[in-house]
Amino acid sequence: MKNTDARAHFPAFQNGFSFLDNAAGAQVPKQCIDAIVSFLSSASCNVGMPYPGSQTATNIKIQTRLETSEFLNCKPTEVVIGTSATSLTFQLARAFSRIFKPGDEIIISELEHEANASPWRSLEAQGVVIKIWRATFPESRLKLDDLRSLISSRTRLLAVCSAANSLGTAPDVAGAAAIAKTVGAWTITDMVHYAPHHLPDVQKLGVDFAVFSSYKVFSTHTAFMFVKEGLLEKLPADKLHFIPDDSLQKFEPGTTNHECLAGWLGTLEYLRTVLGGGATGRAGLQAAYTQIENLEQPLMEFALEKFKDIPGLSFYGEPSTSGRVGTFCINMPGLEPLQVAERLATAGVGVAAGHYYATMPMTALGLMPNGAVRVSVAHYNTKEDLEKLMGALKD
Ligand SMILES: Cc1ncc(COP(=O)(O)O)c(C=O)c1O
Repeated sequence: MKNTDARAHFPAFQNGFSFLDNAAGAQVPKQCIDAIVSFLSSASCNVGMPYPGSQTATNIKIQTRLETSEFLNCKPTEVVIGTSATSLTFQLARAFSRIFKPGDEIIISELEHEANASPWRSLEAQGVVIKIWRATFPESRLKLDDLRSLISSRTRLLAVCSAANSLGTAPDVAGAAAIAKTVGAWTITDMVHYAPHHLPDVQKLGVDFAVFSSYKVFSTHTAFMFVKEGLLEKLPADKLHFIPDDSLQKFEPGTTNHECLAGWLGTLEYLRTVLGGGATGRAGLQAAYTQIENLEQPLMEFALEKFKDIPGLSFYGEPSTSGRVGTFCINMPGLEPLQVAERLATAGVGVAAGHYYATMPMTALGLMPNGAVRVSVAHYNTKEDLEKLMGALKD
């Protein structure tokens, strides 16, 4: 399969624009759009009642939990449906605020998007101690030995991303979670930036909590949180009083966005049928992600090589393809990042500029307040997209 074969399933690309801002949110395949239209056309109803439209909505919610559990490699009873990764993480922090004590410690990696940092910092007000697991710059790596020197018998939680949305680094989350476990601490991993590039596997990582947003995974604006079996009951949530303590609904206040769920199921269908060769269940998703990795690898190699040819370009982060995803942080001499993004937009190329809410790594790199230019690829991008980018950067 070629990148263009995948791209043909994405109506938004008919305009010829080179979209290299996938880290901000991916485009969606036709299956996703069709599923939303089908749901809204036939049954824009709420769940739980015996009439057909309501049963359709109920089934979509049940199927979403089932298929998202296949996506994460967990049980359906471990999947919370939410509105965004940020709001889910804040909800979790509110629950922790009721059980963490003054002097308890939380370790946050320096590569985090603030969605996996600010919620934990909010616990400082009640005496929880925040420690930062510093990265090594400019390559932006997290070393397990540095984590070992931070961990203590008071550590309750480790927050670390599976991939950094700013620099593309993919830390060793399994290694970090194993270290956290030695002192009985929980690990939460932010998979928002990882999930478009690699299939999540919460069991392999050994984490207790994980979040991802489906709008980064070629789908709709909703998000999911993995809560490891046995933990739900221990977490005091802001919930309606009649919701039982062992119910996932304690973290799902209000009505779910059912059309978004329908769209997510459509995207999973795209992954399994178009990229995964039609296999069902997690096997289909595994096949799809093998395809995604194969389509992205040459793009990463090409981009890393071609950046070297741009006179004066500053490159931040890991210079090789190992331990990273295809998200590149650069700057151009004599221009602010936003000016670069504006000129690229005029040339038909979409990239991000700024700090992308990853203020810690950007501060460590001395790039605040204006940040840098971020180029982020997905499996449907082509070498032509990157050639257009490189040509415009040279100009
Ligand atoms: C790594 C990472 N974590 C968290 C978020 C926040 O996700 P959401 O918009 O679903 O709150 C983002 C969004 O860009 C992200 O890139």
